[in-house]
Amino acid sequence: MGLSEGLIFRDRKVLAEQYIPPELRVRRREATFLVRKLLSRFSEGRAGDVVAIFGSPGRSGIGKTTLTKYVGYKLEELARQRGIRFKFIYTNVYSAPSLYEILTVIAGQLSPRINLKGSSTLEALKAIVDYLYEKSYYVLIAIDEFQNLVNSPKVDDAYLYSLIRIYEQVPPPDGIPRISYLLVASDYLVFSKLRSKMPQIESQITFRQHLEPYRVDEIYEILEQRAQLAFYDNAWNPKILEIIASYYGVDGTGIKDGNARRAINALNTAAEYAEFEGSNVIMEEHVRKALSVDSMANVSAQDLEGLSIHELLVLLAVAQHTMRSGEPLTTGRLRQLYKEIAEYYGETPRGHSQFNQYINNLASIGLLNVTPSGKGMRGRTSIIQLPVEIPATALYEVVEEIIKRKTGIGVRNWI
Ligand SMILES: Nc1ncnc2c1ncn2[C@@H]1O[C@H](COP(=O)(O)OP(=O)(O)OP(=O)(O)O)[C@@H](O)[C@H]1O
Ligand SMILES: [Mg+2]
Repeated sequence: MGLSEGLIFRDRKVLAEQYIPPELRVRRREATFLVRKLLSRFSEGRAGDVVAIFGSPGRSGIGKTTLTKYVGYKLEELARQRGIRFKFIYTNVYSAPSLYEILTVIAGQLSPRINLKGSSTLEALKAIVDYLYEKSYYVLIAIDEFQNLVNSPKVDDAYLYSLIRIYEQVPPPDGIPRISYLLVASDYLVFSKLRSKMPQIESQITFRQHLEPYRVDEIYEILEQRAQLAFYDNAWNPKILEIIASYYGVDGTGIKDGNARRAINALNTAAEYAEFEGSNVIMEEHVRKALSVDSMANVSAQDLEGLSIHELLVLLAVAQHTMRSGEPLTTGRLRQLYKEIAEYYGETPRGHSQFNQYINNLASIGLLNVTPSGKGMRGRTSIIQLPVEIPATALYEVVEEIIKRKTGIGVRNWI
């Protein structure tokens, strides 16, 4: 029964990374605004907007690419209905790292007739502008991961300038600007970089859309839409979505990274566990397992393997305490727990200064958070806890496993 088809999934591709939902329930306002703004320009025969979409440093999976593609496809649909000749072109600087490669992608998506072989950047730009004029086509060119283009030593500032301010370089014969840009950047740092390197481009940006990491309610809505499309109606319930949403939402109680990609992945993994077990319903235990597997991705296996046995024992003590109480603990209390655990594993607990050294080391590689204690406590007591992104239960299991392997518990009598 375990591998039989059809108990959980109605349509797997809905949970795939590249899937763009037919409607955006979250970010609908932003999408509608951008679509209206850009469409009105095409209808009026005066494109040439440069719009920027950007997130916050260190945040990923917050819908930058999704919003971009959704806006592009929606524009194609509306333009078709209104008889406007329009094309959306998506380029990504990861897969097209030089300007010439970007131009090749643009030309390739426009028409196989545009041949850029052997042409200079300026000639390539001219070929594109001429083609659009001939066909009276409007285009929206999205450049995703735009910060890589700005930061790349391979990209000449002057060329980037001529791409974005294309009409100064190659004016269209009829004077009608037909190209608009959507520059998609990871965060606002790209603007200060532009300002210092190419202020003319920065001042060209007509509109900036900042995207925040997702809140719990937003992740819930995104997941609900996917669940409705991907699973059979009886295979899921709101509770499992709530657990995932509050784990990833920035205002939730889990790792708070606001990342919709990780949330959708966790839902997919949970569904696969359910399917694998032959269950016809995704249950809380499947979700918890998926979350704990995902969150251990925050911990480097190499870091853990590199720890001494006593450091592992200290970590195990913190994980165990956190699982039981969910509270932080003092160094004094931790030392006591460490001693008990060390003795259990047949190891002689180390002295005070060594113990402090372990704590410092674990803190320096980000496995523990150590803060000086507040008032009312004597001496140099600190408060110790696991970083919020490390789940106690999953950590406990992994560390215990390594300790057993390293101490050879169970086999030590034969050695
Ligand atoms: N508003 C939304 N509605 C539905 N799905 C969404 C939404 N935002 C993001 N997603 C989904 O979350 C995943 C990640 O989104 P996306 O790739 O757009 O993020 P990103 O900000 O471009 O991430 P990165 O910084 O890694 O490029 C995708 O699978 C996407 O379908
Ligand atoms: Mg992206």
